[in-house]
Amino acid sequence: MLAAAFAAGENTVVVLFDRNEKAGKKLYLTGKGRCNITNIADKQEFMRNIPRNPRFMFSAFDGFFNNDIIALIEDQGVKTKVERGGRVFPQSDKSSDVIKALSSFVKKRGVDIRLNTRVKEVSKDGDVFTVKTEGGHYDRFDCVVIATGGVSYPSTGSTGDGYGIARSLGHTVVSPLPSLISLVTEENWPCELAGLTLKNVKLTAKVGKKVVYNELGEMLFTHTGVSGPLVLSASSRIADAPEGARLFIDMKPALDEQTLESRVLRDLEGNKHKQIKNAIAGLLPSRMIPIVLGIAGVDPEKTTDSLLKSERKQLVSALKSIPLTVKMASDISEAIITRGGVKTSEIDPKTMESKLVEGLYFAGEVIDVDAYTGGFNLQVAYSTGAAAGRAIAQKYSKEQNKMCDVRTNEIFAVAIDGPASAGKSTAAKGVSKKLGIIYIDTGAMYRAVALKAIRMGITEFTSEEIEPMLPDTDVAISFVNGEQHVMLDGEDVNGLIRTQEVSNGASKVSAIPAVRLKLVELQRKLAENTSVVMDGRDIGSYVLPNARYKFYVTAAVEERARRRYLELEQKGQLNGITMEQMLKETIERDERDSTRAFVPLKQAEDAILIDTTHLSIEEAIASVIGYIEGKDK
Ligand code: DC
Repeated sequence: MLAAAFAAGENTVVVLFDRNEKAGKKLYLTGKGRCNITNIADKQEFMRNIPRNPRFMFSAFDGFFNNDIIALIEDQGVKTKVERGGRVFPQSDKSSDVIKALSSFVKKRGVDIRLNTRVKEVSKDGDVFTVKTEGGHYDRFDCVVIATGGVSYPSTGSTGDGYGIARSLGHTVVSPLPSLISLVTEENWPCELAGLTLKNVKLTAKVGKKVVYNELGEMLFTHTGVSGPLVLSASSRIADAPEGARLFIDMKPALDEQTLESRVLRDLEGNKHKQIKNAIAGLLPSRMIPIVLGIAGVDPEKTTDSLLKSERKQLVSALKSIPLTVKMASDISEAIITRGGVKTSEIDPKTMESKLVEGLYFAGEVIDVDAYTGGFNLQVAYSTGAAAGRAIAQKYSKEQNKMCDVRTNEIFAVAIDGPASAGKSTAAKGVSKKLGIIYIDTGAMYRAVALKAIRMGITEFTSEEIEPMLPDTDVAISFVNGEQHVMLDGEDVNGLIRTQEVSNGASKVSAIPAVRLKLVELQRKLAENTSVVMDGRDIGSYVLPNARYKFYVTAAVEERARRRYLELEQKGQLNGITMEQMLKETIERDERDSTRAFVPLKQAEDAILIDTTHLSIEEAIASVIGYIEGKDK
């Protein structure tokens, strides 16, 4: 879900296939239905909780960590809380709230979610992936993220489909084994205690003589053996060879043997003549008393005063170390997570992209990384998902920055020139939208220089006045939501450059060669690495003489004056100008723009003339697009 949400963006269309009737179904199970969202531990502590391939996670954690997922979920209106061991849960204790938060995030990002859709096959032909589902097939995906989970809890959809797909695309899959799984013991006595939870105990696991696990925490007995957080974590350390592994439960981890012995002695002395099973009631949950006494070899019916010193010592050691032998791990389908999965050395840890198949990504449990309980595994899933999604979004935004013609893979330019108020900019904007490339309004740059001059008190706009100002004048372009903003000395002046005063000033400063040279350099740079629609006066003739498409958009001067008059009237910026004055100013501006010595306004020889005098905006745009499409045929 996170991979899909992060991949979705302006330049990407993302489809999320989920075989379940709901996305995120496995989250229902985590934290016993409360959803242990993540853990507040630091990165080092996270690494210690990831027994296999922790280093693979470094950069993914750097990019998206526990604070990020908490913020994301809280942003969707779900409050979280931190519990023992740094475990983070929804305040409501309902995993469904977390699922809702993630679903709403995914939907807001515009992902097309296809539920009840099982993916059967993914193949790649040339640059294009085809995804076959049970009901049909979809082609022309540029990228595919496999985030199918492991093989644990198949009822949640984790049936191992992703491994097969990864293999079919050439990847190595490290054999999936259960991890975080309950253990079946040789001993039958746990059955008598089924359901009993032990808190604050210490569990030690040994394989042969080697201690492989030794932690404090919580565990519980089941009908066939043991489970609970300590056991699940221990299981991942013995998953290679669970059979015969030994477990030891320390019921009193806070007390050393000596201290415990004096505590036992005190209990016995305070309960003289009582049966031993009653005398130690304060030490153990009652259901465990006969079991522990049995292990210690002490007759429960015996009275305290007849207890031998050796028996007392045996009782103390039983309390410190109840032994169990593992028969086997429970069935893999019951494992909370699967260890094993797609080999990490075949995946780029920064982007989660396959090193073997370009455009193929992996996220979550399908990768050969697994962690202990405590919210660590889910964080691995979010971090790898976010890394994959972001890498994809970035890949296409990069291509956006360097937009090419999809057919020829070349950068190209559309030049639109013409006199003021001929409808150039409206046509240019429409064309840029239609072609999916950026629009650059060069007039705005001349306007910014004029604004600076006006601000400096310059009235005549002569080159003597303007030139000295230029070295300290910084004109730049930035894009906000795809719209061009002109920055003058770092200030966004978009809202200040459309007045009549600035229009007249711009027409005057644009006649100064030094101004033109400065701005033309910026304009050429902008078109160097990306496809553009650029409008102005000299784009096709001077700035971008090699532009693939050139247009000269014009209209009768009366019509242009009328349009400009209406525009200013609408904005409430007429400031008393009459229609006649507007016509006079427009004629003057035309005259200045087309008679100036340096690069005057004129139609480039190879430009197509479009007269908009009798055209609506839509007709003007359609006319430009029509020529572009016609030329490519
Ligand atoms: O397109 P516009 O009205 O915003 O342009 C403002 C002035 O800048 C206009 O009078 C002509 C001048 N200009 C120019 O000389 N060369 C360009 N490429 C763009 C505008």
